[in-house]
Amino acid sequence: MQPILFNIDQLSHCYADGTIALRNVTLTIKQGKKIALLGNNGAGKSTLLLHLNGILRPTNGAIRFKGKEVAYDRKSLLSLRKQVGIVFQDPDSQLFSASVIQDISFGPQNLGLSKEEVLRKVEWAMEQTETTRFKDKPTHFLSLGQKKRVAIAGVLAMDPDIMILDEPTAGLDSYYSKQIMKVLDHIQKQGKTIILSTHDVNLAFEWADELIVMNDGEILCYGDPATVFEQDKLIRKAHLEKPWVMETFQTLVQAKIFPSNESMPKSKEELFEKIKDASSNFKISPSYMQIPILN
Ligand SMILES: Nc1ncnc2c1ncn2[C@@H]1O[C@H](COP(=O)(O)OP(=O)(O)OP(=O)(O)O)[C@@H](O)[C@H]1O
Ligand SMILES: [Mg+2]
Repeated sequence: MQPILFNIDQLSHCYADGTIALRNVTLTIKQGKKIALLGNNGAGKSTLLLHLNGILRPTNGAIRFKGKEVAYDRKSLLSLRKQVGIVFQDPDSQLFSASVIQDISFGPQNLGLSKEEVLRKVEWAMEQTETTRFKDKPTHFLSLGQKKRVAIAGVLAMDPDIMILDEPTAGLDSYYSKQIMKVLDHIQKQGKTIILSTHDVNLAFEWADELIVMNDGEILCYGDPATVFEQDKLIRKAHLEKPWVMETFQTLVQAKIFPSNESMPKSKEELFEKIKDASSNFKISPSYMQIPILN
């Protein structure tokens, strides 16, 4: 059983203009998980994530981190933020230094590491995000996707135990999206916890261990991806669609191309593997079983 990192208890947040962005959110987050937060625009995803490293304070309710209630004095916040790194939805809110390398170095320099250690972490983070090529460029001249990768590199370089990423792949082309997700997988395998928000149901379905679906400041459902996406009514309410891998698989089960006890594939590759296996079985099946979809 993995230890619990966050206990979120009846958390509500009301912004200064009276908008209620979170309503009685209760949730636990365990160590070492890959968690994706889904939900329509304005559902409260960013607001919830900003509470996890103390940028926003609850209006009501409480957050406990590793069993202790989060405190908002300077020292406590510094200690929390060493362990919990956040990549903002908008990279312009994150980047402020004159050049890319200065920006990525800022976090690790403030952790009291040696110069060599800072350089090692910064170079590693730049390699992972493929930002080395423009390390001396002013951050304000970068494209949106480049800024996003620099913002991710800045948090990677701090090597926090828990990484929170608010829509990390938004604005990235499919090559860099895959690269970033690979890096996140890699660091999660080393024991880190990753919590990200996304509008990409296919990415969430394939990548996450657990999904949290939000709507109007509340959690609509929480659980493993296949179970969550079974709940048609709730996912429609959160403006989501079924991942295409799941929908295709279910159609093939309904058409009796796969047996009803076939396990759900997580990815395109797993689905294609199952189709190949099924089609090789058809070769020795009676002709009425040779269904055109697999020709
Ligand atoms: N600083 C703010 N002041 C007032 N209202 C705010 C503020 N920030 C967010 N809100 C409101 O809080 C609600 C939740 O916003 P939030 O940004 O958390 O949603 P989200 O789920 O991240 O949406 P998106 O998918 O568009 O990023 C929205 O109604 C939004 O208008
Ligand atoms: Mg958001």
